[in-house]
Amino acid sequence: MPHTLLKADDICYTYDGDHTPALDHLSLEIKSGRKIACMGSNGSGKSTFFLCCNGIRRPDHGTLSYKGKPLDYSRKGLLDLRRKIGIVFQEPDHQIFCADVQQDISFGVLNLGYTETEARKKAAQVMENLGITPFAHKPTHALSGGQKKQVAIAGILAMEPELIILDEPAASLDPLHTEIVHRLIDQMADAGTAVMLSTHDVEYAYAWADDIFLFHNGRILAQGTPEEIFTQKPLLQTVNLNPPAVLSLFQRLTEEQVLPAGLPLPKTMDELIGYLTR
Ligand SMILES: Nc1ncnc2c1ncn2[C@@H]1O[C@H](COP(=O)(O)OP(=O)(O)OP(=O)(O)O)[C@@H](O)[C@H]1O
Ligand SMILES: [Mg+2]
Repeated sequence: MPHTLLKADDICYTYDGDHTPALDHLSLEIKSGRKIACMGSNGSGKSTFFLCCNGIRRPDHGTLSYKGKPLDYSRKGLLDLRRKIGIVFQEPDHQIFCADVQQDISFGVLNLGYTETEARKKAAQVMENLGITPFAHKPTHALSGGQKKQVAIAGILAMEPELIILDEPAASLDPLHTEIVHRLIDQMADAGTAVMLSTHDVEYAYAWADDIFLFHNGRILAQGTPEEIFTQKPLLQTVNLNPPAVLSLFQRLTEEQVLPAGLPLPKTMDELIGYLTR
């Protein structure tokens, strides 16, 4: 049975010197083992919410709780929290601290209080699983953007979180590295880790997510399954998103009676082509 991991209850956050709140009475619940995509315009509060989730920012109002307990902002409380919730920032340069790949991947684990040997072992395991070994000997400054992203994800995975948060994991990656990162994300989700990410890629969110949260002006404007969210055109327009191409094409083909009415919504282009060719 899925249970609630993280719960945000009416949280508000305003950055110092700002007049408008970045988070404005936002509430949501994240369940174990789910694949969650947070979407919404630039500046709608996704990254701020993520930073609140692992205690980097603290809401000025409302409560965040993890497994039913309000977050504990003491040093020890935050350390415990960061064992359970891992966050991969949009910019890998904000995440990579060490000159050496292996060291960098062990860094977070060491910070959690594991011994050098344990950290090394966990890092080696993750590097092998993720196929990082080919560039493991390179200094981190000599890695490409995509390789840095993989190292940043590896560092978080080595900490074995229960919930992993990825802020625009595929931003600025080429198609090959996007595919590699998407595969890593699937591996985590298949292993039972809850994954929450932000993305502007509707095709990906539609095909991948169990739940969509639509952020708008620091609040959750709507939440639901990808099918529920991506079939509501006015809602999508409010947050500057287009429907996934596969759904637009499916709808058009149904309207033109190329396809019979009443078919289930296709998830992928392959499914849609299946309708056309069978
Ligand atoms: N470090 C900061 N200092 C001051 N204001 C900030 C800071 N970071 C974000 N903000 C403001 O908070 C609001 C929410 O920004 P946030 O980065 O959370 O949005 P986002 O949904 O992640 O956007 P994007 O899709 O562009 O990444 C914006 O108005 C932004 O200007
Ligand atoms: Mg952001």
